[in-house]
Amino acid sequence: MSHQLWGGRFAEPTAAEMREFNDSFRFDRRLAEADIAGSIAYARALARSGIITEQQRDALITGLEQVHREFAESTFIAREGDEDIHTAVERRLFELIGPVAGMLHTGRSRNDQVATDFRLWCLWACDQLEEAVSALQGRLVDQAEAHVETLMPGYTHLQRAQPITFAQWCLAYATMLARDRERLRDCRRRTAVLPLGASALAGNALGLDRESLLQDLPFERLSENSLDAVSDRDFAAELLFCCTLLGAHLSRLAEDVILYSTAEFGFLTLADAYSTGSSLMPQKRNPDSMELLRGKAGRLLGDLVALLTVIKGIPLAYNKDLQEDKEPVFDAVDTLLLALRVAAGAVATWQVHTERMAAALDDAMLATDLADELVRLGMPFREAHSAVGRLVRRAEELCIPLRELPAEELAAAVPALDIQRYRSLFDHRRSVERRSVIGGTAPTAVRAQIARLRQQEV
Ligand code: ARG
Repeated sequence: MSHQLWGGRFAEPTAAEMREFNDSFRFDRRLAEADIAGSIAYARALARSGIITEQQRDALITGLEQVHREFAESTFIAREGDEDIHTAVERRLFELIGPVAGMLHTGRSRNDQVATDFRLWCLWACDQLEEAVSALQGRLVDQAEAHVETLMPGYTHLQRAQPITFAQWCLAYATMLARDRERLRDCRRRTAVLPLGASALAGNALGLDRESLLQDLPFERLSENSLDAVSDRDFAAELLFCCTLLGAHLSRLAEDVILYSTAEFGFLTLADAYSTGSSLMPQKRNPDSMELLRGKAGRLLGDLVALLTVIKGIPLAYNKDLQEDKEPVFDAVDTLLLALRVAAGAVATWQVHTERMAAALDDAMLATDLADELVRLGMPFREAHSAVGRLVRRAEELCIPLRELPAEELAAAVPALDIQRYRSLFDHRRSVERRSVIGGTAPTAVRAQIARLRQQEV
């Protein structure tokens, strides 16, 4: 038997293709748990507000709990006519408890119902994402801890710039992820607003005590305008933005790792568990985990753009366009939860080639340190910059490392600097240690960053 929630005023049945087009159960069945939790809370509030009796409430709750079990145990049997999750749950409830099932929807519309369900689902998603981000962050901090003293080149414009520690590189990503977590928590606050009681658009007319709904659901506040409540999908757009930016961060990490694991760099080797081979070239070991992480960023951005485009320009209040809100969010959250697990596994198991990192350090990366020394001797920085620039050019012309510049070349260019002192400045470790400001790459500053991040772990 079909349990269509509308239809009294229709003389003709819906066209088959229209039904297929309109039905959302194939994807919104994922809201089952949220839908039932919302309905149980609603039944309690109806009884508290004197709209249904306590016996009716208990019958509804017993039935809803049974439907919940069927979804949880995958024994729920969908029927022709289960238009969406709301219809499916109510249809099954009717089969289980009879006509009293019809009391549940008193004063409620699918408009405030679906907004409630979807927010509840997004709240869970925020929590799961934060946990997964925290796990990846933890693996990056582990790596940092193991490599506080490991030197490597730092790059700008992908050109060797200054020596840094590998820990500093790991912590740069851990710091991005700290912002992602903060953003998710912030998004969570605006998601935890309960629309139930807004009804179709104008608000419940039967004296429902909305405040009491908050007792049974994990929302922090009630929505304040019924028209906005049923048509607001900002929370979903915000969640998708959080996902998109997280995806962008993962794509940057992935790109660095792809570069660093080339033969040309040779800084890292991904574990076999996170690499794949070529069907043709037997020697190949490809960083597919990282390439997929990089590629997923495009898909996440697509999900965000899809939803923003749906929201744009729809008139108040609810319109069926809004049914298009769910699939992009489900896709983004599924994609990211798996991506974050892969990233954490890859980070925890890669091999770090500290000798290759050290071998990539060259003398020219210490040019800034030379200029700083001239500043210490009293030269204005601009002048020091240009004097050291000339030294670098001379060394290049002579095809020798900067530190091997002959004494007379140095005396001609920078008379103030004695050759012994000059040669002693070519020490990458000292260069790193000097950068001990808060947030700097020096091991002392890196240890402080690690301590701060460890405190934030969940
Ligand atoms: N399946 C719908 C959605 O996802 C539920 C709300 C339907 N409301 C309505 N007035 N037709 O948005």
